[in-house]
Amino acid sequence: MSRPRTPPLTAPITAPFTPQTDTLVDRRQWLATAATLGIAPWLLSACASGTTATSHISPGAAKPQAAGARRQLGPLSVFPIGLGCQWRPGATPTELADSYGSRFDRPAALRLIRRAVDQGVTLIDTAEAYGPFLSEDIVGEALQGIRHQVVLETKFGFDINPDNGMRRPGLNSRPAHIREVVHAQLKRLRTDHIDVLIQHRVDPAVPIEDVAGTVKDLIAEGKVRHFGLSEPGVQTLRRAHAVQALAVIQNEYSMLWRGPEAQVLPLCEALGIGFVAWSPLGMGFLAGGVKADSRFEMSPVMDFRAISPRFAPEVLPANMALVAVVRDWARRKQATPAQLALAWLLAQKPWVVPIPGTTNMAHMTENLGAARIGFTPDELRDLNRDVAAVHIQGERLPAAVLQMSGVEAPARP
Ligand SMILES: NC(=O)c1ccc[n+]([C@@H]2O[C@H](COP(=O)([O-])OP(=O)(O)OC[C@H]3O[C@@H](n4cnc5c(N)ncnc54)[C@H](OP(=O)(O)O)[C@@H]3O)[C@@H](O)[C@H]2O)c1
Repeated sequence: MSRPRTPPLTAPITAPFTPQTDTLVDRRQWLATAATLGIAPWLLSACASGTTATSHISPGAAKPQAAGARRQLGPLSVFPIGLGCQWRPGATPTELADSYGSRFDRPAALRLIRRAVDQGVTLIDTAEAYGPFLSEDIVGEALQGIRHQVVLETKFGFDINPDNGMRRPGLNSRPAHIREVVHAQLKRLRTDHIDVLIQHRVDPAVPIEDVAGTVKDLIAEGKVRHFGLSEPGVQTLRRAHAVQALAVIQNEYSMLWRGPEAQVLPLCEALGIGFVAWSPLGMGFLAGGVKADSRFEMSPVMDFRAISPRFAPEVLPANMALVAVVRDWARRKQATPAQLALAWLLAQKPWVVPIPGTTNMAHMTENLGAARIGFTPDELRDLNRDVAAVHIQGERLPAAVLQMSGVEAPARP
């Protein structure tokens, strides 16, 4: 299948947003929350295809779209690998930082997104909170002229002032705020509709029926096409779906964190909801970016793994057993570790779509090669057995972030 190449960039490169701080927040808790969600960089720096059936297909250099693979994500049809766009201001005025110590700049981010689309990627993920605003602004600029080629996924949910990026503590999914956020998102994303609007963590103060009802209205108005939730409690998932059909659930899922397999994936299967896997490379761990003696920087831009229990010095050497499994299987499949980790996700369910994040063009292209890796049933059984044999030590996230997962929204009074 040949695709038209993307037209060249026409718009000027604009300066990143520089939101201001808010001092009302518990600092430790906020740092943890902010880091994982790609927000509040000022605080961070201050803190000191069917892949189940057949034999191996060579990954890597060949153009991924040549496989013509698509997968169904609820009602949406997308390329099997998406692109996560979660960046924040870096240590210098021109630098962009991801959450794990990688840096690049805005022109490179624009090229990365456009090249990804050129190579067949259709699912682009971002959020109001990433920057805040900055990532959406970059995505909006990058997609000029090619907007129609992608499924654009973004998120609301944090209490961020839409006018100035100032953050108040906690979450905010009150209907009026959702509307305000979407209004600002459409402008930043330079589009007249958002394909998938995701609640970025369940607000414990707002009934999910009110959230789903608001998104339903936005869909009726043509501003939003589909609805999703990130890390909801399972009852909240059901209740939301009853008001407005969910297209996707976006949760962390990888060989490093298999939590969704217990309840969320079966529920998605039963309800016909697609699953978008965040941190599919285990925050770079599965791709080979972490060693037994790795230490993660706290400044000038904090690496989120510095405050994540499963990357702590006491547990890292033991957790490296999983990296050995990935390396071994990557060798067997003539793939890279990142490709193997993504192909494993694709093989779990035909409606799982990973959204690896990267600042690196070569990594982005490499990751798309995962769509061409298949496992025989015997291989998949053995690989799953090897993955399950590794007991990962340390919580997946800092406590302050973890407490925003699996939350059940209150009932309507
Ligand atoms: N819903 C939520 O609450 C939530 C939370 C977190 C993230 N997300 C979304 O999920 C996306 C992905 O998650 P993530 O960025 O946290 O984690 P990830 O995709 O598991 O890992 C990203 C890390 O892997 C590295 N990497 C990527 N490809 C590589 C390759 N081929 N070889 C070696 N290293 C590679 C990147 O470094 P390089 O830059 O050097 O490639 C980066 O350090 C985010 O961009 C965001 O859109 C959502």
